[in-house]
Amino acid sequence: MLEKKCRARLRLECQRGAGRALAQPDWYRKIGDLGPDNIAPAQDQCGIGEAPARDCSSGQHTGIGSDRSTAPPAGINRLGRVGYATLCALRSLSHGDSERFAKSWNMPVLRGRQGPRVEALLAWYDVHRRVLPWRAQAGMRADPYHVWLSEIMLQQTTVQAVDRYYRTFLSRWPTVEQLAAASLDDVLAAWAGLGYYARARNLHRTAKIVAGQMAGRFPETAAGLRALPGIGPYTAGAIAAIAFDEPQAAVDANAERVIARLFYVKTPLPAAKAELRARTQALVPQRRAGDFAQAVMDLGALICTPKAPQCPRCPWQEACIGRVRGLVETLPRKAPKPDRPLKRGVAFVVVDAKGAVLLQRRAEKGLLGGMMQPPLGPWGADFPAEYDAMTQAPFAATWIKRPGLVRHQFTHFELEIEVYVAKLTRRPRIQGRWVQAHALAEAALPTVMRKILVHGLGTTTFAPA
Ligand code: ADE
Repeated sequence: MLEKKCRARLRLECQRGAGRALAQPDWYRKIGDLGPDNIAPAQDQCGIGEAPARDCSSGQHTGIGSDRSTAPPAGINRLGRVGYATLCALRSLSHGDSERFAKSWNMPVLRGRQGPRVEALLAWYDVHRRVLPWRAQAGMRADPYHVWLSEIMLQQTTVQAVDRYYRTFLSRWPTVEQLAAASLDDVLAAWAGLGYYARARNLHRTAKIVAGQMAGRFPETAAGLRALPGIGPYTAGAIAAIAFDEPQAAVDANAERVIARLFYVKTPLPAAKAELRARTQALVPQRRAGDFAQAVMDLGALICTPKAPQCPRCPWQEACIGRVRGLVETLPRKAPKPDRPLKRGVAFVVVDAKGAVLLQRRAEKGLLGGMMQPPLGPWGADFPAEYDAMTQAPFAATWIKRPGLVRHQFTHFELEIEVYVAKLTRRPRIQGRWVQAHALAEAALPTVMRKILVHGLGTTTFAPA
């Protein structure tokens, strides 16, 4: 009953408030999870061509906002209407232009609807933008090499984790030509600890292509960038927007959260990725596309945080359907992660008389490809018994099993490793590289292998380079 009254009042307020920008009344916020026809699309409630209060349309980037599974293309609602904000954002048109555009498509024109305003976000960004090491100063173009390097590092990795690696790379290899001239081993070693090591190998391949075949100049479009190793559609869009101001969407996890809340996208991630990208693309302005990309990311990092978002400080608060529905913190939804299988195996830490440790290189292809490791046995459902473990050892020696085990989580499985140690007076003939303990920090050792060595050597730690 109460809900019925609220909805009736909502409709009334929409009509009464035509053309006015109202502060959001409390009752409106308290209605809770209204169905798509109560709030979005707004024109269902208010009638075509009416100019509702900002309240009424808040949350609808008019024309987007239907949460039906048969969603129309971004920017065009399921009735085929187009909102001004969408049109202007899509085409950088003036309102007059967008009206003509809508008419030429035989679409009803909606006046006075307020979607997320790009200018409001850019004004917020101009004041609150984060200072990040790869970012150009306000009003300056970023160096494409810096942008590319940072975007590759930021794939599946946080800004905080990337910071130190980015600075190290840039001070060691200040140009793409210098990175191209480095050995793959040095690049892998500098990458050690950052994870997803295929990125480092692709980084090196791309540096060689850009330095050797493109005179050190990166392609200036997303389409051109995508042809390079390790650059998928998201990364291509981000680099093209940030380095070259091409109007491309760049949707990292922060931006996904912002857009999912703004348009109340209920589809769980990762299935929602394509929709979130399309909705973002529909907002990208023709000018300042790079700033827009970074502004959405910063909004997610600073205001539209996973927990306790600061909606009253958000430049898009009025347009945010998630906020209107009081459901901001439930978005984006995430599909439950599949159970990670557990794998188990043994590792062999070998130390010679001078304290050098035996390392071997992993195969180029596959998990941790090309990185270094101590000799390892195969991974299976359980640990091998000690007798079987000896058959997996790289050579016969007095192997002592260390108490405890090493645990590591990969994206798709968990690993537990038991560690056997041998101290040798003479080096056996075996393939591999002997590395002094003090030099292990500079070796191309992924985190899991560092853990194994720390456990085997009994040291508390040795930091990566
Ligand atoms: N995540 C991905 N790209 C980013 C960027 N350029 N700045 C901040 N976070 C990001």
